[in-house]
Amino acid sequence: MAEAPSSETPSEEARRLVEIARRAALSAYAPYSRFSVGCAIESVDGEIAVGSNMENACYRLGVCAEIAALTAAKQAFGLDKIARISVTGGHIGANGELTGASMVTSCGGCRQSILEAAHLSGRDLEVISSNGDGTELAMHRISELIPFGFGPANLTDAGD
Ligand code: THU
Repeated sequence: MAEAPSSETPSEEARRLVEIARRAALSAYAPYSRFSVGCAIESVDGEIAVGSNMENACYRLGVCAEIAALTAAKQAFGLDKIARISVTGGHIGANGELTGASMVTSCGGCRQSILEAAHLSGRDLEVISSNGDGTELAMHRISELIPFGFGPANLTDAGD
């Protein structure tokens, strides 16, 4: 996987994807944390898949927004076609919009799952983190978010 440069200025496409992720967060099922996360994934052909977090009374069974979106992306266009991913989160404000000042970056487990898609595509995937308000954006490559990550190459010594 070739590493691409980081700290890129957010493009119009990136800002548009953040808005789609913010909208996806409105469908979160998060009665326990009351923290709604949205994720939007864009394919190399411009198709979009979205997901939001889905919690459970058995807390540890909750599903992150990124995993929900990766599953939807797999169905819609395939993990190998992913071009960029946007993640955001906060609470739903009185105006019905996602609200939050703090940046939301993917948890470690989600970074590992995004890395798997990066290995499949051979691209150092772009991950756009933002605050719930959608006013602050940070661009990273998955290799920056999970350096020395575990991947297929680590399984070369597996048995038959
Ligand atoms: N959450 C995500 O959906 N993605 C992340 O990367 C971090 C955390 C969710 C899990 C839980 O439903 C809520 O945010 C609070 O941790």
